[in-house]
Amino acid sequence: MKDFEPFHHFTPKKFESRWISPANIAFVKYWGKKGHQLPANPSVSMTLKNCVTKTRTEFEISDRLQVELFLDGKIEDKFSAKIRKYIETLPFPWIQNLSIKIHTKNTFPHGTGIASSASGLSALALTLTEYMYHSVDQQPDSKFFSRASCLGRLASGSASRSLFGGFASWGDESDEFATPMDVHADFMRLKDTLLVISGVEKTVSSSHGHNRMQQHPFKEARFSQAKAHYDLMKSALKSGDLEKMGQILENEALTLHALMMTSPDSYTLLKPNTLTAIEKIKEFRRETQLPLYFTLDAGPNLHLIHPEDSKISYFISEELKGLSEKIIEDEVGQGPVKW
Ligand code: PMV
Repeated sequence: MKDFEPFHHFTPKKFESRWISPANIAFVKYWGKKGHQLPANPSVSMTLKNCVTKTRTEFEISDRLQVELFLDGKIEDKFSAKIRKYIETLPFPWIQNLSIKIHTKNTFPHGTGIASSASGLSALALTLTEYMYHSVDQQPDSKFFSRASCLGRLASGSASRSLFGGFASWGDESDEFATPMDVHADFMRLKDTLLVISGVEKTVSSSHGHNRMQQHPFKEARFSQAKAHYDLMKSALKSGDLEKMGQILENEALTLHALMMTSPDSYTLLKPNTLTAIEKIKEFRRETQLPLYFTLDAGPNLHLIHPEDSKISYFISEELKGLSEKIIEDEVGQGPVKW
């Protein structure tokens, strides 16, 4: 936390902070850690536009740290305790004298592999960063978002990448925080049509999965594959090579789930309809040569990555929609905003 020296000591003040922060979908996955919340391999993701968390946070002076999280207006004891645990680990003495009330709303179902932790915890990280800047009377500077990314990463690795619009990578320029990645203009127009196969909350957390990588028989092979995928993905994203991007994207999604299914205490998050949809997508691509690709997060729901195309949209609504509970239309987003 060496970059936070200017914020280690100040007298806490009352403050309110409001942020809208997006989810992201990883094209190369972070799965496995080293050290304290550092990634075992580099990852890259597309920031979403419509899947966002909107927060309003109140900071009050208190004789001890108190944290309350309200989701859609209802107190959530489980999340309040989780956030408190995270905040307690931050090395700032002033944190012990705050009562923090977080009012949060998602535009999408949480806990289903649509990275609500990335949007929710990046919003929290922005809030804490804004609070620190405000408390020492400093205007946001060029380090504002990388500091927020570092705080986000300590809460949930994928949250580190939600601080930037377009595409962001983590574990390449730095393991401590993510950085924005320049990509070919075509990729800035990509759509993500989310096929919500099941909105039921998943039973196995990502932290459990990351920890399982420590004893995974394919650990070393996976980390070197991920590094190679990252380099290939980075050059495909820069040159505008949609086909190469799609090949790595799908392989990464299937590898992530294969790792879960082959870990020492194995688990499966895919549902029969996930597999049916994957087969249909591959068949559609074989028949039409159109660039429709899929990826998955840690859940059964498919992110369909594609350029705007009426034949692709028709196929999704005719052939895939019926396999899902719900469709969410999303696309590349510009990153967090204050409201
Ligand atoms: O950020 P975490 O600790 O919830 O891990 C998320 C990992 C994946 O979403 C599965 C992949 C990624 O890179 O976002």
